[in-house]
Amino acid sequence: MKCRVCREPAIIDVRRQNANYCTEHFLRMCRDQVTKAIERHDMLSPGDAVLVAVSGGKDSLALWDLLLDLGYRADGLYIGLGIGEYSDASGACARAFAEARDATLVEVDLRTRYGFDIPNGAKAARRAPCSACGLAKRHVFDEAARLGGYDVVVTGHNLDDEAAVLFGNVLRWQTEYLGRQQPVLPARDGFPKKAKPLIRLGEREMAAYCVVRGIDYIVEECPMAAGNRHLGYKEALNQLEATSPGTKFAFYHEFLDKAAERFVGEADDAREALVACDSCGAPTPSGTCAFCRLTARAQVEIRA
Ligand code: AMP
Ligand code: FES
Ligand code: ZN
Ligand code: ZN
Repeated sequence: MKCRVCREPAIIDVRRQNANYCTEHFLRMCRDQVTKAIERHDMLSPGDAVLVAVSGGKDSLALWDLLLDLGYRADGLYIGLGIGEYSDASGACARAFAEARDATLVEVDLRTRYGFDIPNGAKAARRAPCSACGLAKRHVFDEAARLGGYDVVVTGHNLDDEAAVLFGNVLRWQTEYLGRQQPVLPARDGFPKKAKPLIRLGEREMAAYCVVRGIDYIVEECPMAAGNRHLGYKEALNQLEATSPGTKFAFYHEFLDKAAERFVGEADDAREALVACDSCGAPTPSGTCAFCRLTARAQVEIRA
């Protein structure tokens, strides 16, 4: 196995590109793919204050590392979700990375800040943990960006994640979600711009990236996500990818190039119908937003 670029021994094969890479050219390929995503989708400008949402997992830590290397002003944001040992270990990885790179890590602990954590908050609100978790994370991303004066929040969603979400949305023809499945969402109503610079790189490459760069990340998946529908979609796509490399990339990126635009109108219509949450100001269909309702309910039940 020889590197596509220099013909020296390769350390990884990337089947969808029909290419092998040595360490140096693998890292360069990762940086190039991130740069391409950023430029093609207008994700970041050179002077932007960037907030990287870091979970302590491979994707978001690799993303933070890549953005720092590309010269962006990028701080991290770690949210303490209170999911037992999983959260303790993931927080430790995020902190260790920040220290090693002499970077700034903003931390928000759900229990300290809002009085609940994901296990008890989800139970109190009778929501699936992942749904309560997604709601809480989105709220904290927005709030932390606003308070810290950041221009854009980036997340570590990679090609595998986005293809799996797309697959789920297509299986049920959730056209409003399809309209919202953009790699960049512009800033609006005082809420920050959001971007996903890893859409051209897969999970396996991000794990390899961390190993090569000596980044310690939490390998375990969140224990509350077990049995999640999303994981089934990922598995199904992996099977297709195994027999036909490049399927995932084509599925997602051809969607962006050829189809996404057709659904944007529906997402816009839904968005225009939103009003400001009477408690926190976030856009919501009416009255109090789902996050503030979750918080109120969790606080009452936990106090009782
Ligand atoms: P997930 O929803 O767990 O697949 O995570 C998607 C993205 O959300 C990750 O790549 C991170 O950018 C971000 N994220 C997940 N968990 C956290 C966390 N605890 N704190 C901050 N950002 C997170
Ligand atoms: Fe949110 Fe697991 S990380 S429920
Ligand atoms: Zn090489
Ligand atoms: Zn609210």
